[in-house]
Amino acid sequence: MIEKQSSRPAVLIARAIFPETVEKLSAHFDVTANQANENWSKEEFARRLKGKQGALTTGGQRINAALLQACPGLKICANMSVGYNNFDLDAMTAAGVLGTNAPDVLTETTADGGFALLMAAARRVTEGERYLRAGRWKEWAYDMLVGQDVYGSTLGIFGMGRIGQAIARRGERGFGMKVIYHNRTRLLPSKELAAGHARYVGKEELLKTADHVMVVVPYAPEAKHMIGATELALMKPTATLVNIGRGGVVDDAALAEALQAGRIAAAGLDVYEGEPRVNPALLECTNIVMTPHIASASWPTRLAMANLAADNLIGYLTEGKALTPLNRLASK
Ligand code: DGY
Repeated sequence: MIEKQSSRPAVLIARAIFPETVEKLSAHFDVTANQANENWSKEEFARRLKGKQGALTTGGQRINAALLQACPGLKICANMSVGYNNFDLDAMTAAGVLGTNAPDVLTETTADGGFALLMAAARRVTEGERYLRAGRWKEWAYDMLVGQDVYGSTLGIFGMGRIGQAIARRGERGFGMKVIYHNRTRLLPSKELAAGHARYVGKEELLKTADHVMVVVPYAPEAKHMIGATELALMKPTATLVNIGRGGVVDDAALAEALQAGRIAAAGLDVYEGEPRVNPALLECTNIVMTPHIASASWPTRLAMANLAADNLIGYLTEGKALTPLNRLASK
């Protein structure tokens, strides 16, 4: 634990981050950094946040009305993630606390992560590795670990934001895929252009037509179980489902059932309902590739995410200007 005392604004870094980011913040603030990376309880986090003006947070720290009430001096929470479902933004706005996230810097890396899951699931890569490591590979066979083609297939994307568009570009340019997408609202023509030739379709058409379905939807109560038993039943039995959006957007129990019953061919997950817990039924499935929420985890990208969060803190606490604000405050 690094603790210093001074009259400068006080900032809490809730989880271990790059030493250079701690240093960058320390040039401006009185920094308390959890470099030991202890997993603070809710109560411990609240205790440490008291008296601080800013916090660098990750998705693991819930910022809600009760916490804000306990920390009246707080002015900004800067998430080092694009997702911010750990923020109760209404409560933050009411308390005059700015929330910021870390968009853009992770777009391409996260799209790579999504594509890696798609490739691995459709082509049974991790299943093949388990087979080989278990010493079960005795000879060639025409039907050994045969999967589905990614090249030339139809990719259906739910959530055509920045990451969805980056996935669409990979699919179209790199793999000759036809791309269809569904959003709550259709993209403006200029954004559609950025997404290549992606065609907007209804939810049902996407589920029925896509050979591979990629979910890149952020969590919101309305998005809970957007993909459940009914939706999975509409998909092709040869289809793959990948979720790199947020846990809870896909009904994990329904997905495990569909995989076990062979209603869809395979799945790739990076996010889970109630993570880091994983539905035990998913662990029983062989036709699934699972990673522990690491789609954005490349060294340069994680550094850029941490530094963007730090720049938000520096900008807001020194000049009243954040780079990527999420809420508008009546007055600072
Ligand atoms: C995010 O930034 O929200 C991604 O899920 C990576 O943590």
